Amino acid sequence: MTILKPTPEAVCDAASTLRDGGIVAFATETVYGLGCDTFNENAIEQVYSIKGRPLNNPMIAHILDVTWVSRLTDHWDDRCALLAMNFWPGALTLVLPRRDDVPASACGGYDTVGIRCPSHPVAVSLLEEFGRCISAPSANRSGRISPTCAEHVDDEFDGRITVLDGGACGHGIESTVLSLVSSPAVLRPGSISIEELEEYVGSVLHGDYQGQIDSPGTSSRHYAPNTSVKLCTHDEIENTVDQDCAAIVLKNIIAPSKQTKKMPPTPSEYATQLYAVLRELDTIGASKILVEKPPRTSEWLAVRDRLSRCSS
Ligand code: TXA
Ligand code: MG
Repeated sequence: MTILKPTPEAVCDAASTLRDGGIVAFATETVYGLGCDTFNENAIEQVYSIKGRPLNNPMIAHILDVTWVSRLTDHWDDRCALLAMNFWPGALTLVLPRRDDVPASACGGYDTVGIRCPSHPVAVSLLEEFGRCISAPSANRSGRISPTCAEHVDDEFDGRITVLDGGACGHGIESTVLSLVSSPAVLRPGSISIEELEEYVGSVLHGDYQGQIDSPGTSSRHYAPNTSVKLCTHDEIENTVDQDCAAIVLKNIIAPSKQTKKMPPTPSEYATQLYAVLRELDTIGASKILVEKPPRTSEWLAVRDRLSRCSS
């Protein structure tokens, strides 16, 4: 077991592991991250290898506060400042042209870098103690469900990675990724909505995230449990569910199933629970997991995005 309470000593040890070119998993408010020194190419390579992540999928660099932005980009402008003022620390990643000294390998070979300033106290204390940018993808094997508690990380990597435990993640899904390389464009929806962003930067491009080329991590099969997932209407579930199927629903069903999880009615509470529920239902030997489609409204966009990926 390598799950550690984030005591000052544990955080100090984790920072020295990062300094020595090692890898440490840590809690953030979105999902757990698998962290390493952004400027250590050897450590970056190890993270890709441990995750089995395609080398062209860029990682997000985490910073303590806006004063660190200049270590990563020379392209901070008024739009960025306004967004940072309103959404940082928090679940927003900004993609900007990277400085030449930021390793291309940390950015999937791209000439841009994703930057996020997290709010979770464990992430904050690790950044404070380490004093350098931490590149961290979600702490799961590539293509699998992101971890929302320390035990999930332990399961993913069979206890081989030290995890700074910060409890269950408040958001439960990953940050919103916004490119500001030219006109604002959402590359991955997340808990900060497009409408919220538009209040500050005007119209934001977004669209078909399946096969999105500007953000390789948003390839269509992602966030997937081993058990196959099928998106259905409530009636379809009621009519097709059987004793072998698991179900994730918004309204109760009457038909018997192997196990049914009723989810909270709001998108933010739903998101907080989604990955843990998928992981749990993946362990019960169900033939498939039937998931009731959430409403097609914009507030459900990020949840619908994750569900459609894990069912594709
Ligand atoms: O909430 C989060 O974002 C979590 C926590 C740990 O911060 N991290 C996370 O990282 O979800 P990851 O690597 O699993 O997903 C990062 C996403 C990918 O879709 C990646 O393609 C995109 O962000 N991304 C990162 N840097 C980018 C860049 N320079 N250009 C385009 N997309 C980028
Ligand atoms: Mg990920």
